[in-house]
Amino acid sequence: MEPGTGRVNACLQFVPMHALIDEIRTLKARRHAAILAHNYQRPEIQDLADVVADSLQMARQASAIDAPVLVICGVHFMAETAAIANPDKTVLIPEPGAGCSLAETIQAADVRRWRVEHPDGVVVSYVNTSAAVKAESDYCCTSGNAVAVVNALPRDVPILFLPDFFLGQYLKRVTGRDLDVWLGECHVHAGLTREVLDARRAEEPDAEFLVHPECGCVTSAMYYAEAEGDVAAGRTRIVSTEQMMTRARTSPARRFVVATETGVLHRLRRENPEKEFIAAAEGAECRYMKMITLENLRDSLRDLKHAVTVPADTAARARRAIDRMLAIG
Ligand code: 13P
Ligand code: SF4
Repeated sequence: MEPGTGRVNACLQFVPMHALIDEIRTLKARRHAAILAHNYQRPEIQDLADVVADSLQMARQASAIDAPVLVICGVHFMAETAAIANPDKTVLIPEPGAGCSLAETIQAADVRRWRVEHPDGVVVSYVNTSAAVKAESDYCCTSGNAVAVVNALPRDVPILFLPDFFLGQYLKRVTGRDLDVWLGECHVHAGLTREVLDARRAEEPDAEFLVHPECGCVTSAMYYAEAEGDVAAGRTRIVSTEQMMTRARTSPARRFVVATETGVLHRLRRENPEKEFIAAAEGAECRYMKMITLENLRDSLRDLKHAVTVPADTAARARRAIDRMLAIG
């Protein structure tokens, strides 16, 4: 098989890639479905999607799009969020095993324990959490609006931010608020350490750095962004994946080092063909995001699987936190 021209399906039958793509388009039209893909998805999935975005825009578009069937090409919490906000739509995920190592670091019982110690406290959950954790939370946020959400909270109340430690440290510094921060991390972003960032800075002294706030290097990146006289002062941005798209478009820089999952490079390059984008680490791949393939997307549309639903009482409690997230920032 020539690279990029065909696929081998589960029965080891050769299926040309263009035939698979045609099949997906036909099934999508027949089902009146919309495909929403995260910025980390495989290039061929992004190219087929109606929406390619960060977690915040995916959640907003899930409600805005007028389609009875939404296929979420992302990880499970993204499909759950879409299902909670859109109980009248059929929400599908092509591979139900597409989880999130960060979301796994906290359970609903952990949040309840914190509340016992802080009865007047406010809980802010990153969207990378299960529906059960969201149901125990007051607010949800994404990397795209976390600063705005924390800034909107009343002063003088204890606040728990969960579950990402690095994003929590970033929020403490930017908002000046004293947050309790859960000790969770994403295995992909935690690996993007200060050492990785420093090595890239030495190799690429003229590039602009786009750093996701879940990265292990985020504290150093903040320091470099602000330090007077640092070579990269003003050329280091701590941004969500969608904000990376906006910054790449508007920045005068021609060359960028991108510290996040490498799937984001496809859209950055496609939308900015005259600019150059370099991965901070080529190995920064989310194996869960990459579980979505053309084959299981086709199967999902053909067989209407795998439907993602959330028990009504959990969904009702989680919806409050999600609605607040959608309203801010
Ligand atoms: P964004 O919301 O910035 O797209 O990030 C989602 C995510 O899972 C980061 O790992
Ligand atoms: Fe979760 Fe990390 Fe994958 Fe994002 S990159 S979905 S935080 S495991």
